[in-house]
Amino acid sequence: MIVTVDGPAGAGKSSVAKALADRLGFQFLDTGATYRTVALAAFRAGLGENDARQIGELAARTKVRLEGDRVFLDDDDVSDAIRTPQVTAVTRFAADNPDVRRHLVNLQRAMATGQDVVAEGRDQGTVVFPQAECKIFLTASVDERARRRLADFQDRGEQATLEEVRQAQIERDRRDESREFGPLKKAADAIEVLTDGMTLDQVVDQLEKIVRKRM
Ligand code: DC
Repeated sequence: MIVTVDGPAGAGKSSVAKALADRLGFQFLDTGATYRTVALAAFRAGLGENDARQIGELAARTKVRLEGDRVFLDDDDVSDAIRTPQVTAVTRFAADNPDVRRHLVNLQRAMATGQDVVAEGRDQGTVVFPQAECKIFLTASVDERARRRLADFQDRGEQATLEEVRQAQIERDRRDESREFGPLKKAADAIEVLTDGMTLDQVVDQLEKIVRKRM
């Protein structure tokens, strides 16, 4: 069975999708990690904004592997390296690249073959698994997402104001929604869950009920 969880950055998708996969005994497919890993490979190779063709070729020969919670680039464990602000800032060079997307969409489908998965990202219900048995669109208001993100920053001892975080969030939404290939979009048959004011457990409970009804 395939469950897709799509939605904007900061809606809590990763934590929710991972917890949901654990409860169901499904594999968790973190597709953002695959884009981040290609972006890291490009960054390490000194490729950037104007190197779309080379980044596309690099994606085709880069080995991206997800193993439990860990992410590997070739055989290097890059689980932490792909989450730095530096890599986050250049991930769009991979995510906006149609060659990279074509390659990673195939990889994501291959990873799910013969498995029960919770696949999390932006285009899982629309492009990667249009036939998925259960599709969730997980969202929260911009203000709520900005508050959560600010709390994460403060936990990590990083400085930012709520307004800065809010503006950055709006910009990421704009970019995700206007991407030419694989934009963030609710699938026509997805169930929208608005998580404002809900705890992680409450959200996971609600999604588990939705999935079990479809099983
Ligand atoms: O969810 P995340 O922050 O780890 O995603 C990293 C980047 O990859 C983000 O800019 C959105 C993009 N992404 C995408 O284009 N398609 C996906 N299926 C998942 C993530």
